[in-house]
Amino acid sequence: MKDTKNILLIVTGSIAAYKAADLASMMKKAGFNVNVVMTQNACNFITPQTFESLTGNRCVTDMFDRNYEFKIGHISLAKLSDIVVVAPASANIIGKIACGIADDMASTTIMASKCPKLIVPAMNTAMYENPIVQDNLKKLDSYGYEIMEPAEGLLACGDTGKGKLPPVEDIFAKVNSMIGHEHDLSGKRILITAGPTMEAIDPVRYITNHSTGKMGYSLAEAAVDRGADVTLVSGRTSLKKPFGVRIIDVVSASDMAEAVFSEAKDQDIFIFSAAVADFKPEKVSDSKIKKKDGEAPEILLTRTEDILDRIGHDHRDDQYVCGFAMETEDLLANAAGKLEKKNADMICANSLNDEGAGFGTDTNRIVLIKKTGNKELPFLSKRELADIILDEIIAAFPL
Ligand code: CTP
Repeated sequence: MKDTKNILLIVTGSIAAYKAADLASMMKKAGFNVNVVMTQNACNFITPQTFESLTGNRCVTDMFDRNYEFKIGHISLAKLSDIVVVAPASANIIGKIACGIADDMASTTIMASKCPKLIVPAMNTAMYENPIVQDNLKKLDSYGYEIMEPAEGLLACGDTGKGKLPPVEDIFAKVNSMIGHEHDLSGKRILITAGPTMEAIDPVRYITNHSTGKMGYSLAEAAVDRGADVTLVSGRTSLKKPFGVRIIDVVSASDMAEAVFSEAKDQDIFIFSAAVADFKPEKVSDSKIKKKDGEAPEILLTRTEDILDRIGHDHRDDQYVCGFAMETEDLLANAAGKLEKKNADMICANSLNDEGAGFGTDTNRIVLIKKTGNKELPFLSKRELADIILDEIIAAFPL
C-alpha cells in the first residue's frame, strides 16, 4: 500500500457489534488508519475503549463531544475517509440513511461523506426480510452504496435464518477490494485454474498430486483486489473460497478442461496454475476393485487433454495466456520448452528443489519466462508473487 488509507468504521446497535472489534483490528494490522464512530445503541454492546485500544484513535460516540480533536467532527471525518464501512448496520441506521435522516454522529458523517460506502447489515431474520428494510437497501444500492449480503445461521435471538454478520475476513476482503489497491485490472476478465485434479480408478480410489491450490488462490485474491472479474476453476482444495471470485469447482482433468473451454471466449487473461493430471486410468471401474490373492491389478493409463496447450493454440490475439511449470531439473530449459510448445505468452517456472517453494508452501521462488527474456523474482510470499505476475501481465496490454 503506497499512502495510508483512512477507513471510517461505523458501529451500530446490533449484537454483532462485538465482531467489529476484530474487523477494526484486522484493518489496523493491514496498515490502514481506522477511525471508529459508534451509535449510542452500539455502546450497549461494546465499549468505545475497545476500539480506541485497537485503532490508536479516539472513538467518537457523541456529536457534541467537546474533547474531540476534529473541529466539526462529522465533516472532518467525512473528508478524511477513503471509505465508510457501516458494520454491523442495524435496520435503524439503514432506514435513517435511506430517508436522509441525520441526527447523530454516525448518520451525519455518512451523509457528509463523498467516498465509497459499504453497508454490512446484521439483524434478526424477520427484520432483515421486512419489505421496508429491503426497500431501503434497494434504495441505498441505487445510490451507489455497496451492500454485503448477511450470512445465514443461528442468530443470537435463537432464530435460524439470514441476518448474521458475514465473516469479518470477508468484510475485510471486500474493503480491501474497494480501496486497498489501485484498480488497474478493472474491466478485465481473468480465468485462473488452481489446485490438483483427481482421476478416478474406481468409486473408492483415485490418482492425484500434492497441489494445495495456494498459488492459484493467491492470484485470484490479488486479481479481485485489483478490480478484475475473476473466474477460478478449482480442483479440490481445503482453502477458503476467496471473496468476490466466481468459483467453478471441478474434480478431474476433463471437468477442468470442460469448464475452461466453455468460459474461454469471455476471458481477457488465462492463468493456468493448476496441477492437472497428465494421465488418467483408461477405464474407471464401476465397482470397487477387490484384492485377489498374490495379484496386483494393472491399471492402464491414458493422456488427459492439455488445457494450456489447447488454449495456447486456439486463443484470440487479444487474449493473454500464462502457464506454470514445476520442474525438478533443468528448470529454465524445460520451462522455455513449454512456453514454445504450448504457445503461451509467459510461463511462471518454479523448481521443486528450492526450499520453501512448491506444493503447500506460503512462499515460492519463480522465474518468469517470456520470448523476450527471463526475469528471476526474489523469494516471496505467494500473494506478493501473484501481484508481480499480474503486474507483468498488465504491462503486456494492449496486446
Ligand atoms: N496443464 C494443463 N493441462 C494439462 C497439463 C498441464 O493445462 N493436462 C498446464 C498446467 O496448469 C501448467 C502447465 O500446463 O500451467 C505445465 O504443466 P506441467 O505438468 O508442468 O507440464 P507438462 O506440460 O505436463 O510437462 P511435463 O509433465 O513433461 O513436465
